[in-house]
Amino acid sequence: MAINFDLKSYLKEKKEKIEEILFKYFPEEKGYGAKVITAAKYSLSAGGKRIRPVLCLAGCEVVGGDWRNILLFAAGIECIHTYSLIHDDLPAMDDDDYRRGKLSCHKAFNEATAILAGDGLQSLAYEFFTHPDLVKKVSKTRLLKAIYIISKAIGFEGMVGGQMADLLMEGKKGSIKALKWIHFNKTTRLIEASIVSGALLGGGKTKEIKVLSSYGKNLGLAFQIVDDLLDIIGDEKKLGKKVFSDVKKQKLTYPALLGLEKTKELAEAYINKAISVLSIFGEKAQPLKAIAEFVLNRVY
Ligand code: IPE
Ligand code: IPE
Ligand code: MG
Ligand code: MG
Ligand code: MG
Repeated sequence: MAINFDLKSYLKEKKEKIEEILFKYFPEEKGYGAKVITAAKYSLSAGGKRIRPVLCLAGCEVVGGDWRNILLFAAGIECIHTYSLIHDDLPAMDDDDYRRGKLSCHKAFNEATAILAGDGLQSLAYEFFTHPDLVKKVSKTRLLKAIYIISKAIGFEGMVGGQMADLLMEGKKGSIKALKWIHFNKTTRLIEASIVSGALLGGGKTKEIKVLSSYGKNLGLAFQIVDDLLDIIGDEKKLGKKVFSDVKKQKLTYPALLGLEKTKELAEAYINKAISVLSIFGEKAQPLKAIAEFVLNRVY
């Protein structure tokens, strides 16, 4: 299905604004502990698609909100995501040496610094979520709800729980049911929460939020399936991380359980589902449709 929408310019504009705010509000590299700030900034500025904050802004926009008002919230989401990547790469977890085309944080600095950089980024996210410059622009009730949704999505019953299960399943013969649970928690919850929080802050109605939650779930599941595929068929240069990392660690993945073809079909099915729920938004859904196609066909 061809979508007549200039996603490249859309992503570029949003990405630039997110990064502008991220670095404007980022703490200065000073004090005796400056090293940890330098390390966090290193990982944050290494690149990345910024797909989660973009989804947050897109969620705000599709319900008629002004995305410029919630840039600090979106920037906070990127801090959380980057923290999760820094910790995910640690020797105690996936033990990966490259990320976003550069040495991973613990390689460029050291393990203790990488652990603390992740911790600090998580705190910084909450500083951004509750920053007076954001608070004055949005409904406080909605902001509290949005923070609650993100917190649930990244904690024990979300990303952290998913990461735990991902590690526990290494080298084991897991089921599709277990794998779907892992993908849902480690990756999908934050992706879904990104768009839902944006829509909440943009003034979205209950019905709209429900639809966006369904879009986010399907998109998030497809996102991690494609990530697993790229571990095998991706190009290291484009990906900015090593391929065959999952294979080496004997991770439970869809390619390992179903093979490449069936895995690709599954990702397509989730993307089609994500796109199909958007009809209530009519023309306004174009960016979200284009993002869904991008997630399926991405090479990085
Ligand atoms: C990588 O996320 C980790 C997963 C959840 C698969 P991204 O593919 O969004 O990584 P960046 O932010 O673009 O580097
Ligand atoms: C990471 O999944 C999920 C989170 C960081 C929460 P992966 O371990 O598959 O991500 P990559 O492949 O290292 O980017
Ligand atoms: Mg991992
Ligand atoms: Mg990993
Ligand atoms: Mg991966």
